[in-house]
Amino acid sequence: MRIAIIGSGYVGLVSGACLADFGHHVTCVDLDEQKVSALRAGRMPIYEPGLEPLVAGNVADGRLSFTTDLDAAVADAEVVFVAVGTPSRRGDGHADLSFVHAAAASIAAALTGFTIVVTKSTVPVGTGDAVERIIGETRPGADFAVVSNPEFLREGSAIEDFKRPDRIVIGIEDERAREIMSEVYRPLYLNQAPLLFTDRRTAELTKYAANAFLAMKVAFINELADLCEKTGADVQDVARGMGLDNRIGQKFLNAGPGYGGSCFPKDTLALVKTGQDHDSPMRLVETTVAINEQRKRAMGRKVIAACGGDVRGRTIGVLGLTFKPNTDDMRDSPAIAIIQALVDAGAKVRGYDPEGMAAAREVLAPIDYADGPYSAAAGADALVLVTEWNEFRSLDFAKLKQDMAAPVLIDLRNVYRRHEVEAHGFAYECIGKPARLAGAGARKAAE
Ligand SMILES: NC(=O)c1ccc[n+]([C@@H]2O[C@H](COP(=O)([O-])OP(=O)(O)OC[C@H]3O[C@@H](n4cnc5c(N)ncnc54)[C@H](O)[C@@H]3O)[C@@H](O)[C@H]2O)c1
Repeated sequence: MRIAIIGSGYVGLVSGACLADFGHHVTCVDLDEQKVSALRAGRMPIYEPGLEPLVAGNVADGRLSFTTDLDAAVADAEVVFVAVGTPSRRGDGHADLSFVHAAAASIAAALTGFTIVVTKSTVPVGTGDAVERIIGETRPGADFAVVSNPEFLREGSAIEDFKRPDRIVIGIEDERAREIMSEVYRPLYLNQAPLLFTDRRTAELTKYAANAFLAMKVAFINELADLCEKTGADVQDVARGMGLDNRIGQKFLNAGPGYGGSCFPKDTLALVKTGQDHDSPMRLVETTVAINEQRKRAMGRKVIAACGGDVRGRTIGVLGLTFKPNTDDMRDSPAIAIIQALVDAGAKVRGYDPEGMAAAREVLAPIDYADGPYSAAAGADALVLVTEWNEFRSLDFAKLKQDMAAPVLIDLRNVYRRHEVEAHGFAYECIGKPARLAGAGARKAAE
């Protein structure tokens, strides 16, 4: 099939490369000329494991190309995916649909023959109706169908997620779209990935429901972690004990500094707004948003407390700046609020991230940057592990102790075990665990 993708960011680029890999002919369109020329030169504008060879292979085979010329790409396509951003609107937290609406108008002007316009961007329920209206008004008489096909991929494992999804949700109002969308995803269907056809509004809402539910799980375990700290229980064991119950599941029960990224924060907020607009409040999600918002800065206070309550003039090394490992995405990363809290308290922060430094420089308060975990720690009064990149999982504590001004580790991802770190003479703080070993834990550590 001939496919055009409007917006070549994390979702558009990965989707385009994977659809080309399925055998379709894909043109990825973006307004950003720099992005397009980088892609044409074989340089990836984002860090996503496995993306570069996938793009290179499909470009070489003549199935994948990049352009700023939306008109030509759309005119040539049977299916046009919209994968532009839907950030939080400044001021009120609703999803900002201006990019989607603009894309719809541009697509309308370029349509030739029957075309399926697929919204892959995460958009509030009812947006498909608006896209349909915009196209109909811009090009009266155009032959098209608007479909909702929300994307569930995760940055860091985006290609695997796209190629082996748990499900593909497709919301249609026009029966002609069913066959064509089945054809688009045929290779996955043959792979037994369930294709779930629904009406368009249901598909739109399913995406928000899934993200909000996962965000709620994270907020739940984070609150429970606080209770564990007050009561001497261990949140990792509680999460395991809960998660082994199939009805609950283990995933998204890792206590930490709060969720971030380009999806959960904005999507939970947008769902709250949709609920309010329809006089159908999403109270659990409202609370999730509030819990997460206050948690990020609270993590800054946790670091300050671990440093004895005062960090003015002290140097704090921060390991991991992106919102999760294996991405360079800094959008709404918890590191932003944590670092801001430390800077506000007078600390000198020295950060390091394996892939996110360039993006970090654009959004973080002014801090120093190091070129590795040990240079971030050198001379520091405390080291904070914010994002659990693999290279932070087996730090050399003997070396750290030698190089740091004070041996203090605040592990906001529970990567380490207290007794291992303390055995190296470090003071250790983590999430949701008893401050001192007691009972069986102490016996186990002493053995
Ligand atoms: N990032 C994720 O992990 C993820 C996962 C699932 C769903 N989503 C959703 O997918 C959508 C896209 O997210 P993203 O992270 O890929 O965003 P992004 O910001 O990385 O990419 C969006 C791209 O669209 C381009 N663009 C905007 N308007 C355009 C237009 N009119 N014509 C051509 N190009 C245009 C921008 O230049 C940008 O390159 C969002 O709605 C998001 O919620 C994202």
